[in-house]
Amino acid sequence: MNTHKALQLVTRDDDGVATAFREDVLRGLNQEQKAIPARWLYDDAGSQLFEDITQLPEYYPTRAETEILKEQSSSFAEMIAPGCAVVEFGSGSSVKTPLLLSAIDPAAYVPLDISGDFLRASAKELAAKFPSLPIHPVEADFMRQVELPTGVESVPKLGFFPGSTIGNMIARTAVDLLRSMRETLGEGAKLLIGMDLIKDAEILEAAYDDAAGVTAQFNYNLIRRINRELDADIDLDALKHEARWNDEYARVEMHLVAQRDFKFTVAGRQFALAKGESLHTENSHKFNRRTSSMMLLAGGWEPQARWLDSKERFSLILAEARPNRSAP
Ligand code: AVJ
Repeated sequence: MNTHKALQLVTRDDDGVATAFREDVLRGLNQEQKAIPARWLYDDAGSQLFEDITQLPEYYPTRAETEILKEQSSSFAEMIAPGCAVVEFGSGSSVKTPLLLSAIDPAAYVPLDISGDFLRASAKELAAKFPSLPIHPVEADFMRQVELPTGVESVPKLGFFPGSTIGNMIARTAVDLLRSMRETLGEGAKLLIGMDLIKDAEILEAAYDDAAGVTAQFNYNLIRRINRELDADIDLDALKHEARWNDEYARVEMHLVAQRDFKFTVAGRQFALAKGESLHTENSHKFNRRTSSMMLLAGGWEPQARWLDSKERFSLILAEARPNRSAP
């Protein structure tokens, strides 16, 4: 083996993210329905594009959830005792987290994120807004059980998981996550979770295929990233962004649909797409009262309260990790 290549291999394999990305993409491209895990949409450019999406007229979830957080602050204060530790799954956004923290007067804020950079940036932002609130950022993959900082051991916990991020996961993964949140937070903890609601397909498809084409760019960015980071040559002009409501699974799917037959190479492997075939790049599951309850219960969380925005597009649900009881 040539030393230069060997060296390259070592640096690449040292970089766990690059390896995981390549493996996920290659595995997904070998499936009957080609698919790429949605988490790879969120590199720096993708995260910025998602921020732009939240401002679009068609994309209602962020505005609807923010409205609930603003309008219901007194009901949160009623249901959530002061002095709890707020554990946020994912780094706090500049808007939603302060609304919750102001409403409930917590004893500590514990943001969990896999990206240390995001974590430090948002912890700093929050510290400036809440100078007397202890903040304990934890760099961790919240899909697994997380060891919380010792300072919050004996404090009641409130998990916060806004944005309907749970909707990105298929049911089995979502239930795994809810169960590991229960392990992380412990019996007696509460969870405030955002879940987007099922509504007319036209409204949902427009939210994921906006007139300005920002969501299309968000989807195309994944291909740019694959081309750049995985030595690929996928022709972007041959792919068209599509948002499809899948009624059977109650989810909006993002696809990139081949406009003609074409071949491409990724990391030295050859692939082909036939005209009309697609790459499936994201799911955004939607819920109603019963399906959101079922999902939470399956993960070990009993729903206690549910709030909607004034147009009834989005739900915020408060649930509790009740101790296991004997039941028929
Ligand atoms: C960040 C997962 C909540 O599903 O609505 C928005 C991602 N994708 N537009 C969502 C997304 C395209 C978003 N989540």
